Amino acid sequence: MASLSLKQLGGGNRSAAAQLPGSRSRPGSAPPSRVGFRVLASGDRAEPDLSVTVNGLNMPNPFVIASGPPGTNYTVMKRAFDEGWGAVIAKTVSLEAEKVINVTPRYARLRAGVNGSAKGQIIGWENIELISDRPLETMLKEFKQLKDEYPDRILIASIMEEYNKAAWEELIDRVEQSGVDAIEINFSCPHGMPERKMGAAVGQDCALLEEVCGWINAKATLPVWAKMTPNITDITQPSRVALKSGCEGVAAINTIMSVMGINLDTLRPEPCVEGYSTPGGYSSKAVHPIALAKVMGIAKMMKSEFDDKDHTLSAIGGVETGGDAAEFILLGADTVQVCTGVMMHGYGLVKKLCAELKDFMKMHNFSRIEDFRGASLQYFTTHTDLVQRQQEAIRQRKAIRKGLQSDKDWTGDGFVKETESMVSN
Ligand SMILES: Cc1cc2nc3c(=O)[nH]c(=O)nc-3n(C[C@H](O)[C@H](O)[C@H](O)COP(=O)(O)O)c2cc1C
Repeated sequence: MASLSLKQLGGGNRSAAAQLPGSRSRPGSAPPSRVGFRVLASGDRAEPDLSVTVNGLNMPNPFVIASGPPGTNYTVMKRAFDEGWGAVIAKTVSLEAEKVINVTPRYARLRAGVNGSAKGQIIGWENIELISDRPLETMLKEFKQLKDEYPDRILIASIMEEYNKAAWEELIDRVEQSGVDAIEINFSCPHGMPERKMGAAVGQDCALLEEVCGWINAKATLPVWAKMTPNITDITQPSRVALKSGCEGVAAINTIMSVMGINLDTLRPEPCVEGYSTPGGYSSKAVHPIALAKVMGIAKMMKSEFDDKDHTLSAIGGVETGGDAAEFILLGADTVQVCTGVMMHGYGLVKKLCAELKDFMKMHNFSRIEDFRGASLQYFTTHTDLVQRQQEAIRQRKAIRKGLQSDKDWTGDGFVKETESMVSN
């Protein structure tokens, strides 16, 4: 007979799909309840199932190509599908690509170890890259071609526009006609675009964000994710505004405003373009702990304020291992996006991510993503509460302290037991 093991079941109650202003009806099956226990026969334990259903979109695994260089054109997006990514978010598009003019070099890296060492592991990545500089029509044609060739795979368009209702409406309309499955709104590009009141300029201003989200959600018929900037004091505030305004999901984080460094020979900042630079967006391993904190904050807010709704969270920042992804999922993420990791390790990275995530799941007897999604959120509390918990723990430890405090405490009756209470082996 196979031995039996108790296993916690996962699954958030996101099936209610309450109709918010501007919210769309969503296809797809409801995820299972997260509460309860299931008895598994360990003898016939199957491979962990990585598939997820997010806002009605079925993905073979939670790994999503984040908007950026890995989603710039047909060739690379096709490659991502062929390698097995759960979904692809294309590079951000806008109506007027001719206004987007990039510079080179546009990236600068931070290595662990001595400043300037060429040997240390790459832990940080700054970019001053703008959104897609390819004509919208070209990108839309490629989206259509990809959806024709991969009808079962999830393709998400990332869009950004100026503060202009008609422009947003036109962009949404054209993008939806290309056949994509969902839309991510880039409210978070930290460089270049804020100068045109785009990207982070909207994501950092809750009043502006509410207005623009209102336009978007009144127009869009596909699920909408709002991609948030970490370059703000409290990321939960714009996230809340986006969800209240009808967005189905939040994605976080975009890059963190940074200056990669100063070349100590030339005294010029990096990345150096004709002797000058401008602050850019920081990504890769070094941002992972910051992203975890932001995702934790958003997840807690979503759980306490939107728990019964079909809202989803896509976590981004410094993912290179299945363990990095497991951390985000333990904090409540439905999907995990990767950008810089793909730029450094290639599209095949998804195979390693899936294998490592499965290893983690096997270690804990989790059979599905929902079994552990959000499981670690409960362990976050306030510092005041930590102090109280520690004082109580010390009090309890003292109460059960073994051994005698002083020689005056020896008794005749309990002498042997008192002796044993002070033996170490
Ligand atoms: C070179 C580069 C270009 C990017 N371009 C975009 C973009 O066009 N739109 C967008 O929403 N995010 C863009 N991002 C941000 C990433 O999608 C992601 O949010 C960020 O890099 C953190 O994730 P990572 O550490 O996995 O790279 C870009 C990031 C990099 C490194």
